[in-house]
Amino acid sequence: MTRRDKQLVRESFRGLEEVAEPLALLFYGRLFEREPGLRPMFRGDLAAQGKKLMEMLTAVVENLDRTESLTPVLQAMGQRHAGYGVTARHYELVEEALLWALGQALESGLDGEGRRAWQAVLGHVSATMQQGAALLSVPR
Ligand code: HEM
Repeated sequence: MTRRDKQLVRESFRGLEEVAEPLALLFYGRLFEREPGLRPMFRGDLAAQGKKLMEMLTAVVENLDRTESLTPVLQAMGQRHAGYGVTARHYELVEEALLWALGQALESGLDGEGRRAWQAVLGHVSATMQQGAALLSVPR
């Protein structure tokens, strides 16, 4: 994740907080279109779930200069996700659907550079979550 990536992600996210709710619903729509089998995993209210997802992304974007501050939070979240039955393949699907939804929500879309910047950030989030899940299987 370069300085430029962080800058691009911060700038593009600025306008998106206002449309967080429709963005999240677009994201789930895309995800379930791609992989209908994932729908039953989400047992709660999807709008409320979308709000939690967007709040987490907001925290990530606000802490891009101190990513380590969120490491324990993301690792614990990854551990809960392992409990929901989430696998590495699911993280790829979620990243793709989020990138797509971000591109839809941004007035000028997501160009190659912006897409790569978001990919770097989402890749970091997914990797840290999966690291947390992997810690569960390490004997202590
Ligand atoms: C970018 C990575 C992700 C982020 C930031 C994220 C964020 C969140 C948050 C904040 C919650 C609320 C509960 C909790 O913290 O445990 C949650 C729940 C959940 N997430 Fe994720 N998530 C991510 C990836 C995934 C993936 C890859 C899947 C698999 C399809 C997934 C499926 C779920 C499910 C099933 C729940 C519980 C929903 C329910 O109880 O209805 N998430 N997620």
